[in-house]
Amino acid sequence: MTVILALETSCDETAAAVVVDGSTVLSSVVSSQVDLHARFGGVVPEIASRAHLSLLTPVIAEALVEADVEGCALDAVAATVGPGLAGALLVGVAEAKALALAWGVPFVGVNHLEAHLYASFLEEPDLAMPLVLLLVSGGHTMLVLMEGHGRYRLLGSTVDDAVGEAFDKVARFLGLGYPGGPVIDRLAAEGDPKVVRFPRPMPEGLDFSLSGLKTAVINFTRRHRPAPGSEDRPAPGAGGRPVPVADIAASFQAAVVDMLVAKARRAMDETGAAGLCLGGGVAANSELRRRVTEMGTEDGVRVFLPSRAMCTDNAAMVAAAAWWRLRSDGPSPSDTGIRPNFPLA
Ligand code: KG4
Ligand code: ZN
Repeated sequence: MTVILALETSCDETAAAVVVDGSTVLSSVVSSQVDLHARFGGVVPEIASRAHLSLLTPVIAEALVEADVEGCALDAVAATVGPGLAGALLVGVAEAKALALAWGVPFVGVNHLEAHLYASFLEEPDLAMPLVLLLVSGGHTMLVLMEGHGRYRLLGSTVDDAVGEAFDKVARFLGLGYPGGPVIDRLAAEGDPKVVRFPRPMPEGLDFSLSGLKTAVINFTRRHRPAPGSEDRPAPGAGGRPVPVADIAASFQAAVVDMLVAKARRAMDETGAAGLCLGGGVAANSELRRRVTEMGTEDGVRVFLPSRAMCTDNAAMVAAAAWWRLRSDGPSPSDTGIRPNFPLA
Protein backbone atom coordinates (compact mmCIF):
# COMPACT_ATOMS: atom_id res chain seq x y z
CA MET A 1 0.00 0.00 0.00
CA THR A 2 1.44 3.35 -1.07
CA VAL A 3 0.00 6.54 0.43
CA ILE A 4 0.79 9.72 -1.50
CA LEU A 5 0.18 13.35 -0.57
CA ALA A 6 0.02 15.42 -3.76
CA LEU A 7 -0.04 19.19 -4.28
CA GLU A 8 -1.36 21.12 -7.27
CA THR A 9 -0.52 24.83 -7.73
CA SER A 10 0.06 25.22 -11.48
CA CYS A 11 -2.62 27.86 -12.05
CA ASP A 12 -5.36 29.31 -9.86
CA GLU A 13 -6.45 26.33 -7.76
CA THR A 14 -4.56 25.52 -4.56
CA ALA A 15 -5.12 21.80 -4.01
CA ALA A 16 -3.89 18.91 -1.87
CA ALA A 17 -5.00 15.28 -1.81
CA VAL A 18 -4.14 12.01 -0.12
CA VAL A 19 -4.56 8.96 -2.38
CA VAL A 20 -3.77 5.28 -1.77
CA ASP A 21 -2.33 3.18 -4.62
CA GLY A 22 -3.30 5.71 -7.27
CA SER A 23 -7.01 5.05 -6.95
CA THR A 24 -8.44 5.31 -3.42
CA VAL A 25 -9.00 8.97 -2.63
CA LEU A 26 -8.84 9.59 1.13
CA SER A 27 -9.16 13.36 0.68
CA SER A 28 -9.13 15.93 -2.11
CA VAL A 29 -9.21 19.57 -1.08
CA VAL A 30 -9.42 22.34 -3.70
CA SER A 31 -9.34 26.01 -2.76
CA SER A 32 -10.25 28.10 -5.77
CA GLN A 33 -8.84 31.61 -6.23
CA VAL A 34 -11.53 32.48 -8.78
CA ASP A 35 -12.86 35.40 -6.72
CA LEU A 36 -9.40 36.99 -6.52
CA HIS A 37 -8.92 36.91 -10.31
CA ALA A 38 -12.51 37.51 -11.48
CA ARG A 39 -12.33 41.31 -11.49
CA PHE A 40 -9.30 41.16 -13.80
CA GLY A 41 -11.14 38.82 -16.22
CA GLY A 42 -8.39 36.17 -16.04
CA VAL A 43 -5.63 34.74 -13.88
CA VAL A 44 -3.04 37.29 -12.71
CA PRO A 45 0.18 35.26 -12.18
CA GLU A 46 1.60 37.33 -9.31
CA ILE A 47 -1.71 37.25 -7.42
CA ALA A 48 -1.88 33.47 -7.98
CA SER A 49 1.61 32.88 -6.50
CA ARG A 50 0.87 34.98 -3.43
CA ALA A 51 -2.49 33.30 -2.88
CA HIS A 52 -0.88 29.83 -3.17
CA LEU A 53 1.64 30.89 -0.50
CA SER A 54 -1.05 31.77 2.02
CA LEU A 55 -3.51 28.99 1.12
CA LEU A 56 -1.25 25.97 0.67
CA THR A 57 -0.44 25.18 4.31
CA PRO A 58 -4.10 25.20 5.51
CA VAL A 59 -5.14 23.21 2.41
CA ILE A 60 -2.50 20.54 3.15
CA ALA A 61 -3.54 20.43 6.81
CA GLU A 62 -7.18 19.95 5.79
CA ALA A 63 -6.25 17.16 3.36
CA LEU A 64 -4.28 15.30 6.06
CA VAL A 65 -7.00 15.72 8.70
CA GLU A 66 -9.76 14.64 6.32
CA ALA A 67 -7.72 11.59 5.26
CA ASP A 68 -6.91 10.89 8.92
CA VAL A 69 -3.27 10.38 8.01
CA GLU A 70 -0.19 11.71 9.85
CA GLY A 71 2.58 13.19 7.71
CA CYS A 72 5.00 10.54 8.92
CA ALA A 73 2.69 7.76 7.61
CA LEU A 74 3.03 8.95 4.00
CA ASP A 75 5.11 7.07 1.44
CA ALA A 76 5.77 9.99 -0.92
CA VAL A 77 4.97 13.66 -1.51
CA ALA A 78 4.20 14.74 -5.07
CA ALA A 79 3.65 18.09 -6.79
CA THR A 80 2.94 19.40 -10.27
CA VAL A 81 6.24 20.65 -11.76
CA GLY A 82 4.69 21.94 -15.02
CA PRO A 83 3.36 23.07 -17.36
CA GLY A 84 1.93 26.13 -15.65
CA LEU A 85 2.74 29.55 -14.20
CA ALA A 86 6.34 29.65 -12.97
CA GLY A 87 5.72 31.47 -9.68
CA ALA A 88 2.67 29.35 -8.89
CA LEU A 89 4.50 26.08 -9.62
CA LEU A 90 7.46 27.15 -7.44
CA VAL A 91 5.23 27.42 -4.37
CA GLY A 92 3.92 23.84 -4.66
CA VAL A 93 7.24 22.25 -5.65
CA ALA A 94 9.22 23.97 -2.86
CA GLU A 95 6.60 22.95 -0.28
CA ALA A 96 6.42 19.33 -1.48
CA LYS A 97 10.20 18.94 -1.51
CA ALA A 98 10.50 20.44 1.98
CA LEU A 99 7.81 18.10 3.36
CA ALA A 100 9.38 15.07 1.65
CA LEU A 101 12.73 15.96 3.18
CA ALA A 102 11.23 16.51 6.65
CA TRP A 103 9.33 13.20 6.57
CA GLY A 104 12.19 11.29 4.92
CA VAL A 105 10.11 10.11 1.95
CA PRO A 106 10.58 10.45 -1.83
CA PHE A 107 9.48 13.51 -3.81
CA VAL A 108 7.72 12.89 -7.13
CA GLY A 109 7.44 15.64 -9.76
CA VAL A 110 4.37 15.34 -11.98
CA ASN A 111 3.43 16.67 -15.42
CA HIS A 112 0.07 18.50 -15.12
CA LEU A 113 -1.16 17.18 -18.48
CA GLU A 114 -0.32 13.61 -17.49
CA ALA A 115 -2.23 14.23 -14.26
CA HIS A 116 -5.35 15.25 -16.24
CA LEU A 117 -5.07 11.96 -18.15
CA TYR A 118 -4.71 9.97 -14.93
CA ALA A 119 -7.96 11.41 -13.61
CA SER A 120 -9.55 8.63 -15.69
CA PHE A 121 -7.37 5.89 -14.16
CA LEU A 122 -8.10 7.26 -10.71
CA GLU A 123 -11.75 6.36 -11.18
CA GLU A 124 -11.34 3.41 -13.57
CA PRO A 125 -7.93 1.76 -12.98
CA ASP A 126 -8.55 -1.07 -15.46
CA LEU A 127 -9.09 1.00 -18.61
CA ALA A 128 -7.85 -0.97 -21.64
CA MET A 129 -5.14 0.56 -23.84
CA PRO A 130 -4.42 1.90 -26.41
CA LEU A 131 -6.61 4.82 -25.48
CA VAL A 132 -7.34 8.11 -27.19
CA LEU A 133 -7.39 11.02 -24.77
CA LEU A 134 -9.07 14.30 -25.56
CA LEU A 135 -7.47 16.83 -23.24
CA VAL A 136 -9.31 20.14 -23.21
CA SER A 137 -8.42 22.77 -20.62
CA GLY A 138 -7.76 26.47 -20.20
CA GLY A 139 -4.21 26.12 -21.54
CA HIS A 140 -4.33 23.01 -23.73
CA THR A 141 -6.35 21.32 -26.44
CA MET A 142 -4.92 18.03 -27.66
CA LEU A 143 -5.62 14.52 -28.79
CA VAL A 144 -3.16 12.00 -27.41
CA LEU A 145 -2.75 8.29 -28.06
CA MET A 146 -1.82 6.51 -24.84
CA GLU A 147 -0.16 3.23 -25.81
CA GLY A 148 0.79 2.25 -22.26
CA HIS A 149 1.47 3.90 -18.89
CA GLY A 150 3.72 6.88 -19.56
CA ARG A 151 3.78 6.17 -23.33
CA TYR A 152 2.12 8.93 -25.32
CA ARG A 153 1.89 9.99 -28.94
CA LEU A 154 0.57 13.46 -29.71
CA LEU A 155 -2.03 13.10 -32.47
CA GLY A 156 -3.08 16.72 -32.76
CA SER A 157 -3.34 20.00 -30.88
CA THR A 158 -4.67 23.51 -31.26
CA VAL A 159 -2.95 25.76 -33.76
CA ASP A 160 -4.13 28.89 -31.90
CA ASP A 161 -6.36 29.25 -28.78
CA ALA A 162 -7.09 26.48 -26.27
CA VAL A 163 -10.77 25.53 -25.96
CA GLY A 164 -11.10 26.74 -22.35
CA GLU A 165 -9.44 30.01 -23.37
CA ALA A 166 -12.06 30.44 -26.14
CA PHE A 167 -14.87 29.81 -23.61
CA ASP A 168 -13.31 32.38 -21.25
CA LYS A 169 -12.78 35.03 -23.95
CA VAL A 170 -16.27 34.64 -25.44
CA ALA A 171 -17.82 34.78 -21.96
CA ARG A 172 -15.89 37.92 -21.15
CA PHE A 173 -17.10 39.53 -24.37
CA LEU A 174 -20.68 38.55 -23.59
CA GLY A 175 -20.27 40.15 -20.15
CA LEU A 176 -20.71 36.86 -18.32
CA GLY A 177 -17.66 37.04 -16.05
CA TYR A 178 -14.80 34.65 -15.33
CA PRO A 179 -14.26 31.72 -15.66
CA GLY A 180 -16.42 31.53 -18.75
CA GLY A 181 -16.79 27.79 -19.27
CA PRO A 182 -19.17 27.00 -16.42
CA VAL A 183 -21.30 30.13 -17.08
CA ILE A 184 -21.66 29.39 -20.80
CA ASP A 185 -22.46 25.76 -19.96
CA ARG A 186 -25.32 26.88 -17.67
CA LEU A 187 -26.63 29.64 -19.89
CA ALA A 188 -26.49 27.49 -23.06
CA ALA A 189 -28.97 25.10 -21.46
CA GLU A 190 -31.58 27.90 -21.71
CA GLY A 191 -30.66 28.90 -25.27
CA ASP A 192 -31.30 27.56 -28.75
CA PRO A 193 -28.08 26.24 -30.39
CA LYS A 194 -29.61 26.53 -33.88
CA VAL A 195 -30.14 30.31 -33.81
CA VAL A 196 -26.68 31.13 -35.19
CA ARG A 197 -24.67 28.84 -37.44
CA PHE A 198 -21.12 29.77 -36.40
CA PRO A 199 -18.16 28.44 -38.45
CA ARG A 200 -16.53 25.17 -37.44
CA PRO A 201 -12.92 25.53 -38.65
CA MET A 202 -11.34 22.14 -39.34
CA PRO A 203 -7.57 22.37 -39.89
CA GLU A 204 -5.66 19.46 -41.42
CA GLY A 205 -5.48 16.11 -39.71
CA LEU A 206 -6.24 16.03 -36.01
CA ASP A 207 -5.37 19.63 -35.20
CA PHE A 208 -7.87 22.16 -33.85
CA SER A 209 -8.40 25.88 -34.45
CA LEU A 210 -10.54 28.02 -32.16
CA SER A 211 -9.64 31.63 -32.91
CA GLY A 212 -11.80 31.97 -36.07
CA LEU A 213 -14.87 30.80 -34.18
CA LYS A 214 -14.10 33.12 -31.28
CA THR A 215 -13.78 36.09 -33.66
CA ALA A 216 -17.03 35.12 -35.44
CA VAL A 217 -18.88 35.09 -32.10
CA ILE A 218 -17.42 38.47 -31.13
CA ASN A 219 -18.33 40.04 -34.49
CA PHE A 220 -21.84 38.61 -34.37
CA THR A 221 -22.32 39.87 -30.82
CA ARG A 222 -21.22 43.39 -31.83
CA ARG A 223 -23.96 43.38 -34.47
CA HIS A 224 -26.73 41.72 -32.51
CA ARG A 225 -26.44 42.71 -28.86
CA PRO A 226 -27.34 45.97 -27.18
CA ALA A 227 -24.39 48.25 -26.58
CA PRO A 228 -23.51 48.48 -22.86
CA GLY A 229 -25.68 51.14 -21.22
CA SER A 230 -28.33 51.21 -23.96
CA GLU A 231 -31.70 49.57 -23.40
CA ASP A 232 -32.19 46.85 -25.97
CA ARG A 233 -30.84 48.26 -29.20
CA PRO A 234 -27.75 46.76 -30.87
CA ALA A 235 -24.55 48.83 -30.91
CA PRO A 236 -24.82 52.03 -33.01
CA GLY A 237 -24.31 51.29 -36.68
CA ALA A 238 -24.56 47.58 -36.12
CA GLY A 239 -27.95 47.22 -37.72
CA GLY A 240 -28.74 43.70 -36.55
CA ARG A 241 -31.75 42.56 -34.57
CA PRO A 242 -31.07 41.73 -30.89
CA VAL A 243 -30.38 38.05 -30.24
CA PRO A 244 -30.66 36.67 -26.70
CA VAL A 245 -27.28 36.04 -25.11
CA ALA A 246 -28.35 32.49 -24.18
CA ASP A 247 -28.82 31.70 -27.90
CA ILE A 248 -25.35 33.04 -28.73
CA ALA A 249 -23.84 30.99 -25.89
CA ALA A 250 -25.66 27.82 -26.99
CA SER A 251 -24.70 28.35 -30.66
CA PHE A 252 -21.04 28.92 -29.73
CA GLN A 253 -20.97 25.86 -27.49
CA ALA A 254 -22.59 23.72 -30.21
CA ALA A 255 -19.88 24.75 -32.70
CA VAL A 256 -17.08 23.92 -30.22
CA VAL A 257 -18.57 20.55 -29.38
CA ASP A 258 -19.11 19.68 -33.06
CA MET A 259 -15.41 20.32 -33.74
CA LEU A 260 -14.21 18.34 -30.73
CA VAL A 261 -16.46 15.37 -31.43
CA ALA A 262 -15.54 15.28 -35.15
CA LYS A 263 -11.81 15.19 -34.37
CA ALA A 264 -12.18 12.68 -31.53
CA ARG A 265 -14.18 10.40 -33.82
CA ARG A 266 -11.54 10.68 -36.51
CA ALA A 267 -8.77 9.91 -33.98
CA MET A 268 -10.66 6.78 -32.89
CA ASP A 269 -11.08 5.65 -36.53
CA GLU A 270 -7.43 6.27 -37.43
CA THR A 271 -5.91 4.59 -34.38
CA GLY A 272 -8.41 1.79 -33.77
CA ALA A 273 -8.00 2.54 -30.04
CA ALA A 274 -9.89 0.52 -27.44
CA GLY A 275 -11.53 3.56 -25.88
CA LEU A 276 -11.79 7.32 -25.53
CA CYS A 277 -11.22 9.31 -22.32
CA LEU A 278 -11.76 12.99 -21.63
CA GLY A 279 -9.69 15.22 -19.37
CA GLY A 280 -9.23 18.90 -18.44
CA GLY A 281 -11.63 21.58 -17.24
CA VAL A 282 -13.67 21.73 -20.46
CA ALA A 283 -14.38 17.99 -20.09
CA ALA A 284 -16.81 19.10 -17.35
CA ASN A 285 -18.99 20.67 -20.09
CA SER A 286 -22.49 19.12 -20.14
CA GLU A 287 -22.99 19.28 -23.89
CA LEU A 288 -19.55 17.81 -24.64
CA ARG A 289 -20.21 14.98 -22.19
CA ARG A 290 -23.62 14.30 -23.74
CA ARG A 291 -22.32 14.30 -27.31
CA VAL A 292 -19.24 12.16 -26.60
CA THR A 293 -21.42 9.62 -24.80
CA GLU A 294 -23.78 9.60 -27.78
CA MET A 295 -20.81 9.08 -30.13
CA GLY A 296 -19.65 6.10 -28.04
CA THR A 297 -23.06 4.48 -28.37
CA GLU A 298 -23.36 5.20 -32.11
CA ASP A 299 -19.84 3.98 -32.96
CA GLY A 300 -19.71 1.15 -30.43
CA VAL A 301 -16.60 2.52 -28.67
CA ARG A 302 -15.90 2.64 -24.94
CA VAL A 303 -16.05 6.20 -23.62
CA PHE A 304 -14.89 7.13 -20.14
CA LEU A 305 -15.74 10.49 -18.58
CA PRO A 306 -14.09 11.35 -15.27
CA SER A 307 -16.43 12.97 -12.72
CA ARG A 308 -16.68 16.75 -13.12
CA ALA A 309 -14.61 17.38 -9.97
CA MET A 310 -11.78 15.29 -11.43
CA CYS A 311 -11.90 17.14 -14.79
CA THR A 312 -11.05 20.56 -13.37
CA ASP A 313 -7.72 21.12 -11.59
CA ASN A 314 -7.32 19.04 -8.43
CA ALA A 315 -4.54 17.20 -6.58
CA ALA A 316 -6.05 13.69 -6.54
CA MET A 317 -5.23 13.32 -10.24
CA VAL A 318 -1.66 14.47 -9.46
CA ALA A 319 -1.40 11.73 -6.82
CA ALA A 320 -2.68 9.12 -9.30
CA ALA A 321 -0.08 10.13 -11.91
CA ALA A 322 2.62 10.24 -9.20
CA TRP A 323 1.80 6.68 -8.13
CA TRP A 324 2.38 5.40 -11.67
CA ARG A 325 5.54 7.50 -12.10
CA LEU A 326 6.94 6.28 -8.77
CA ARG A 327 6.42 2.68 -9.88
CA SER A 328 7.95 3.18 -13.33
CA ASP A 329 10.73 5.75 -12.76
CA GLY A 330 11.23 5.81 -8.98
CA PRO A 331 11.56 9.08 -6.99
CA SER A 332 12.39 12.31 -8.82
CA PRO A 333 15.97 13.58 -8.32
CA SER A 334 16.38 16.08 -5.49
CA ASP A 335 17.40 18.82 -7.95
CA THR A 336 14.11 18.52 -9.89
CA GLY A 337 12.90 22.03 -10.65
CA ILE A 338 9.78 23.58 -12.13
CA ARG A 339 9.14 23.16 -15.88
CA PRO A 340 6.67 25.88 -16.97
CA ASN A 341 6.61 24.50 -20.55
CA PHE A 342 6.83 20.79 -19.73
CA PRO A 343 5.53 18.92 -22.81
CA LEU A 344 3.54 15.68 -22.47
CA ALA A 345 5.07 13.96 -25.48
O1 KG4 B 1 -8.13 22.07 -16.35
P1 KG4 B 1 -8.50 23.39 -15.81
O2 KG4 B 1 -9.20 23.44 -14.46
O3 KG4 B 1 -7.25 24.33 -15.70
C1 KG4 B 1 -6.23 24.31 -16.69
O4 KG4 B 1 -5.34 23.43 -16.59
O5 KG4 B 1 -6.37 25.13 -17.62
O6 KG4 B 1 -9.41 24.10 -16.92
C2 KG4 B 1 -9.93 25.39 -16.75
C3 KG4 B 1 -10.74 25.74 -17.99
C4 KG4 B 1 -11.27 27.17 -17.98
O7 KG4 B 1 -10.99 27.75 -19.24
C5 KG4 B 1 -12.76 27.00 -17.77
O8 KG4 B 1 -13.53 28.03 -18.38
C6 KG4 B 1 -13.01 25.66 -18.43
O9 KG4 B 1 -11.88 24.88 -18.10
N1 KG4 B 1 -14.23 25.00 -17.92
C7 KG4 B 1 -15.30 24.72 -18.69
C8 KG4 B 1 -16.28 24.16 -17.83
N2 KG4 B 1 -15.77 24.10 -16.56
C9 KG4 B 1 -14.49 24.62 -16.64
N3 KG4 B 1 -15.51 24.91 -20.01
C10 KG4 B 1 -16.72 24.54 -20.51
N4 KG4 B 1 -17.72 24.02 -19.74
C11 KG4 B 1 -17.55 23.80 -18.41
N5 KG4 B 1 -18.53 23.28 -17.66
ZN1 ZN C 1 -5.49 21.73 -15.71
